[in-house]
Amino acid sequence: MIDSLTELESICKSCQKCPLSQTRTNVVFGTGNTKSEIMFIGEGPGENEDLQGLPFVGKAGQLLDKYLAAAGLSREKNVYIANIVKCRPPQNRDPKPEEAAACIGYLRNQTAIIRPKVIVCLGRIAACQIIDKDFKVTRQHGMWFERNGTFITATFHPAALLRNPQNKPEAFDDFMIIREKLLEVSTSELYK
Ligand code: URA
Repeated sequence: MIDSLTELESICKSCQKCPLSQTRTNVVFGTGNTKSEIMFIGEGPGENEDLQGLPFVGKAGQLLDKYLAAAGLSREKNVYIANIVKCRPPQNRDPKPEEAAACIGYLRNQTAIIRPKVIVCLGRIAACQIIDKDFKVTRQHGMWFERNGTFITATFHPAALLRNPQNKPEAFDDFMIIREKLLEVSTSELYK
């Protein structure tokens, strides 16, 4: 366990634990305010993220930013965003179980350093890794799970919302529930 995020990031940037390291342009470690009490977790970098080295910077990221804003949140101010895998899977395929297994230690270490009070999984891959291997986003989004005092929930992946816009109202409701939970558990000026 590394106790500095900067040090963890520099170790992660030279990672060769799985074959995704061979095809990446950049490691996408994570971004946002490291003092955040809320962390959003996606699946893995896509093309734009791989090119820029930052999570959620493509079309899905722009939609995520809108939902964050509706909940009084932004990556500049009061959230931290990371992914299950830090390197882009070719053709944006799902990360393989062995790739997620090789990478998850970085996310665990990030979480241990940031110590968020609320964790939001974006989509099935993150929810199945973090909440329950059989998690069903359509049935279980917006539900809260508590683990060692941390509140965890999942909502639709923004890329899935771009494909299935009929789920947008339910996703919006999830962000309102997330806002309420944060106001309930937060002790930080960042969420006033
Ligand atoms: N989708 C993800 O899950 N993560 C990103 O960083 C970008 C798109």
